[in-house]
Amino acid sequence: MIFETERLILRKPRKTDWKDVVEGVKGLEVSKNLATVPHPYKKKDALWWINRTIKKWRKKQREGYTFVIELKSEKKVIGATSVENINYQNKTAITGSWINKKYWKKGYITEAKVPILDFAFDKLKLRRLESQVFTNNKASNSMAIKFGFKREGTRKKVTICKADGKIYDDNIYALFRSDWRKARAKILRGKK
Ligand SMILES: CC(C)(COP(=O)(O)OP(=O)(O)OC[C@H]1O[C@@H](n2cnc3c(N)ncnc32)[C@H](O)[C@@H]1OP(=O)(O)O)[C@@H](O)C(=O)NCCC(=O)NCCS
Repeated sequence: MIFETERLILRKPRKTDWKDVVEGVKGLEVSKNLATVPHPYKKKDALWWINRTIKKWRKKQREGYTFVIELKSEKKVIGATSVENINYQNKTAITGSWINKKYWKKGYITEAKVPILDFAFDKLKLRRLESQVFTNNKASNSMAIKFGFKREGTRKKVTICKADGKIYDDNIYALFRSDWRKARAKILRGKK
């Protein structure tokens, strides 16, 4: 499975992506916002993540889909985005993402999320997507709202972040199909 947008390709990771993955998540600016990413981040960490992701792609009843985000113009992986922890009974899942800091604020995650969220609601027929965002993560809280997620509450001191060892509160956001439709239309209008 592969998605292509104007500037990006969303695809299954390959072992050879490890250098780009290391470059993308080695900085604390990225990893301190992701609960389970170690710091410093090395080749072995990237290969572990890639192998685990590839294995998940092989499963028949998929528990999740993680796509790397390749920038077509540079043939380089600049991020990743996922629909994970799929619960087929409840039709729910969790979504997350990261982008290499060098490529922030260029609209890449917005471009990548459109096909991924469409896929989650239209192909996987999910009802509810959740996003868990550290309360101090301005960009991601704002991104969640842009995509139509609604904040449901805050969990106090819920996560010990692997990268910096600090304890964080997080906001729980949920996105339902009708809210995604509205947000999607607004995002696509903004592109014109
Ligand atoms: C969050 C992240 C993925 C955004 O990626 P990006 O490609 O820079 O995002 P985009 O350029 O598509 O912007 C999408 C929206 O995010 C928000 N946003 C992004 N950067 C922001 C910033 N520095 N300050 C405030 N809001 C910001 C805005 O709402 C923006 O929409 P707008 O440009 O219309 O205002 C990126 O900052 C990142 O990888 N952060 C570290 C990892 C992380 O936090 N992952 C999410 C964990 S829950």
